[in-house]
Parts: sequence; C-alpha cells; structure tokens
Amino acid sequence: MKNYTVFITSNIPQEGINLLQRQGYILKFGSLKKAKGAHALLCLLTDTIDAKVMDFVGPQLKIISNMAAGLDNIEVHEAVKRGITFANTPGVLTEAVAEHTVALLLAVSRRVVEGDRFVRAKKYKGWQVDLLLGQELQGKVLGIVGYGRIGSRVAAILEKGFGMRVVYHDEHRNEIAEKNNAKYVSFRDLLRISDAVSLHVPLLAGTLHLVGEKELRMMKKTAYFINTSRGAVVDEKALAKALEENTIAGAGIDVFEHEPKIEPSLLKLQNAVLTPHIASASHEARVAMAELAAKNIIRVLGA
Ligand code: DGY
Repeated sequence: MKNYTVFITSNIPQEGINLLQRQGYILKFGSLKKAKGAHALLCLLTDTIDAKVMDFVGPQLKIISNMAAGLDNIEVHEAVKRGITFANTPGVLTEAVAEHTVALLLAVSRRVVEGDRFVRAKKYKGWQVDLLLGQELQGKVLGIVGYGRIGSRVAAILEKGFGMRVVYHDEHRNEIAEKNNAKYVSFRDLLRISDAVSLHVPLLAGTLHLVGEKELRMMKKTAYFINTSRGAVVDEKALAKALEENTIAGAGIDVFEHEPKIEPSLLKLQNAVLTPHIASASHEARVAMAELAAKNIIRVLGA
C-alpha cells in the first residue's frame, strides 16, 4: 500500500474522517498553504483551488474532492489539463437545500422575520386587521429556474404541499418535469408569470448575472425572488434596488455575490430575508457530504 496523504482544509464531520482513516491514509489538516505534497485534497466551497494552488500542492495530486455540490471554487479546466480528478457531493444535500428554499419563501411571503423583529422591538400592541399582511402560496405560480435535483424537489414540495402551479425553465425540457405537471416556459415568460421565482442553477460563465435589473423588471410587482444557488447568478446591487423600489415584493436570499460581504443596501431592507449560506446546513446533509467527499477520494486513491 502506498502512503497516501489526504489534506483536509476544515473541520468536517467525524464520519468522513473515519472512512479515510480506515483506509490507512495519512490525514493532515489546515490551510491550503500547508497542503504541499498531498495526494488528495478534501476542500470546501470557500477554498479557491486554482492553477497556482494545484502547482503548489504538486504533481502527485490525484483528486480534489469538494465537500459541496457546486464546483465554482475549482478551476476545473486546470484540473483536467493536469489529469487531476475533481469531485463534488451532489444528491446528499438536496432535501436540506430544498427545505431551506421553502423556508425562505414562507418566511418572506408570510413576513415571519419582520414579525419576529416587530415583537422583539415591543411594538406589538394587540391584534390588528391589517398587521403585517402577507400572501398565500396556494394556487400561485412557482417558477423554477433549473429543474435539476434541488429545483425539482422544491417544485414537488410546493406543488404537493402548498398547491402551487409549477413552471420551469432549463437548458432542455425535462421529461420528468412534464410528468410532474411542471410546464416548460421560456425564461422571459417564467419571470413574467411567476408569483415566486426560485433559482437552482450552477454558477457558470453562462449563468453569471443571469438575473439583473432587466430581468427583475420583468417580474410581477407582487412576486418573490428566492436564491439558494450561488450569489453571483444575481446582480446583487440590482436586486437590492428592485427591493428598495418595490419592483418586486420581496426576496429570500441564502447566497451572496461576494461572500461573506453583502451589498450594504440589502441589509437595510425589510422585504428581504437573508441567511448566511446555510441552505445545506442540516446535520444529516453535513454528515452525508463528508462521507461522500471521503468516498470520492477512496474511489480514486484506492487502498
Ligand atoms: C453547495 O454544496 O454547493 C452548497 O452551496 C453548500 O451549501
């Protein structure tokens, strides 16, 4: 057996570490600056793995295993050029992200966070007919952008559980979507007719700022916008402006364009519910992500 070194850039759930330990690999932990000589990297979406990092780690590097569904922190073409395998952890976080997406939609449409702030500020003086009115989801149109694992799960929860009517847009029509009563529409039509738009696309050159001022203007004034995909898919300044000017009714946002920085004007808005990139942050998902990231390494290094 070769003495393979696996470099892990963060504290990951023990279940993942156990799998690697069982293989007899040498495990090292710390910042990427210490990863020289590693055969495998187990990294997070906050680690930028570019050509410089790959060169620094060295030619023995066989696999970059990202403990995330997204791969936008890795220069994948550089990995391909060097014959380094790269892997991610899709599938195991679908439920967590889908549930959080629904939580954001409910929070913004029923003004849950505003209500909480109101109560804590001791502003509640008794029941009122018009206090913090929101909108119901039943019978409304849900527009899913990207009908993949997460998008389709969000659609199923909101269609079956809340009686929403689902339309979707993707690169291609999806047979499963059609069977699930989701109707394919153009991106422009989706923006025009949806009461809630939810993004579920990866961050690629073609999806950078997919939603900007023009797209937000196409949406209904009463519509909600939800993003649990990647921040840079949206022009964050344009989103803040649209919310400020009530071009749309509200937004639920888990991901930001320049994390951890957030557009300051967004922070001041009552009609935005903001969470710190925690859509996949369930105990179940984190353990499964760590295990899958470890298994991806084992698949490449072997014993
Ligand atoms: C991912 O895995 O890409 C998610 O954004 C993590 O929450």
